[in-house]
Amino acid sequence: MRTSHTIEELDIYVWEGKADIVERVVRCMSSFDVDVIRADDMTSAPEGNASRASLAVISVSVISSGGAKLRDWQAHTGMPVIWVGALPRERDPAVYPPEYSHVLPLDFTCAELRGMVAKLLTQLRAHAAQALEPSVLVAQSECMQALLHEVDTFADCDTSVLIRGETGVGKERIAQLLHEKHSRYRDGPFVAVNCGAIPDGLFESLFFGHAKGSFTGAVGAHKGYFEQADGGTLFLDEIGDLPLYQQVKLLRVLEDSAVTRIGSAMPVKVDFRLVAATNKDLPQLVKDGAFRADLYYRLAVIELRIPSLEERGAVEKIAIFKAFIAAVVGAERLARLPEIPYWLADAVADTYFPGNVRELRNLAERIGVTVRQIGAWDASRLRRLIAHARNAQPAPAESVAQALVDRSKWDMAERERVLAALASNAWRRQDTAQYLGISRKVLWEKMRKYQIFDEEPETRESEG
Ligand SMILES: Nc1ncnc2c1ncn2[C@@H]1O[C@H](COP(=O)(O)OP(=O)(O)OP(=O)(O)O)[C@@H](O)[C@H]1O
Ligand SMILES: [Mg+2]
Repeated sequence: MRTSHTIEELDIYVWEGKADIVERVVRCMSSFDVDVIRADDMTSAPEGNASRASLAVISVSVISSGGAKLRDWQAHTGMPVIWVGALPRERDPAVYPPEYSHVLPLDFTCAELRGMVAKLLTQLRAHAAQALEPSVLVAQSECMQALLHEVDTFADCDTSVLIRGETGVGKERIAQLLHEKHSRYRDGPFVAVNCGAIPDGLFESLFFGHAKGSFTGAVGAHKGYFEQADGGTLFLDEIGDLPLYQQVKLLRVLEDSAVTRIGSAMPVKVDFRLVAATNKDLPQLVKDGAFRADLYYRLAVIELRIPSLEERGAVEKIAIFKAFIAAVVGAERLARLPEIPYWLADAVADTYFPGNVRELRNLAERIGVTVRQIGAWDASRLRRLIAHARNAQPAPAESVAQALVDRSKWDMAERERVLAALASNAWRRQDTAQYLGISRKVLWEKMRKYQIFDEEPETRESEG
């Protein structure tokens, strides 16, 4: 499978069989930046080009002459296909993958072909956007290494896991990792549910499903999330947002390992691993009576806390930044550019990202797109992007008031962390900075921001 596309450029592979279509495709596409490649020699079945988007135009006559080879080729390239000619009445799903069932008549017009290519390009763009996810999970800092160690330790048990961490730290990423590392459930589904986004009144139907004809509009039977996750992992994101009455129902399912669809009297056994995540202080919610203590203990059999980006330190910030830059710019283009300049890495390290990895990713993407366009690390333009990120309001989706509350909580926690680090390093700034994994300058800025004063910094410093 290809991983990234440069969508501006397109390769069209034409496998014409008995039809006569290559010349027409060339003519229809002549005004675009498209290469048309004849591919009817089965021995040289195209594999696609990693740096260009590609799709295939295949005559249906090929199916009868080389069905098996065609299937191999499709499995190998995963390329979207436009079929030309009349399709056999019974579509064999192995030959025609449902997501790419694009068909043109044998006497297609240029407008029809271009329209269909444009539609497929949109799909390819969506795939390319997904491919932007760097496949590696960056974890170089000690605290992230410790976390991965915990993941390894707990991945294979069946008990529930509660993942805690600020917004954007990678809670879902870690949940997926837990799933992939579980020997029994990893071949099953990973069903992710955002508990904060369940419309009122739909909880039962979504989680428990319904039997056929159980209410007006319920045409067929429907599996709820619990059943969908059977044999795999159910990931309940934002679990702290689940209202109390829904918490009771969840608890019952966990205790009985069974669900009963709406309109049915027959409980169905379910077997899944539950991973929940929250950026809220669940023990506090329990104290406030907003979260059931019994459910909390049930969920938090194993608790994993994901460190904030700031805790992971400058080296890791830069490593994550580089990973996203490579994903956006593309390895080939990046290799033609000079190394990421020091001033840029420093500027990233010195930027505070309240939205953690997600926010760093957004900045890296904006920088990556700019660098890709102009083909250089243009200092003035990139500095502007960084300045803009620094001035931006955190978490635009949230209300400003909520964002301010979150931020001040974060600030208090961070002030505590800095103070504790200073104390345990005898107030030596060099050691403290190293201990926190930040530069001395950043430490100094933090001390100034949090009004942490040290009576005789220079004397102490020179002692160390
Ligand atoms: N260690 C990492 N290395 C590389 N990418 C990461 C890492 N951690 C997180 N990401 C990326 O950062 C983004 C945010 O991660 P994710 O959605 O898992 O965070 P989250 O904690 O669930 O966020 P939210 O609180 O908004 O739900 C994703 O694009 C994810 O792939
Ligand atoms: Mg999430």
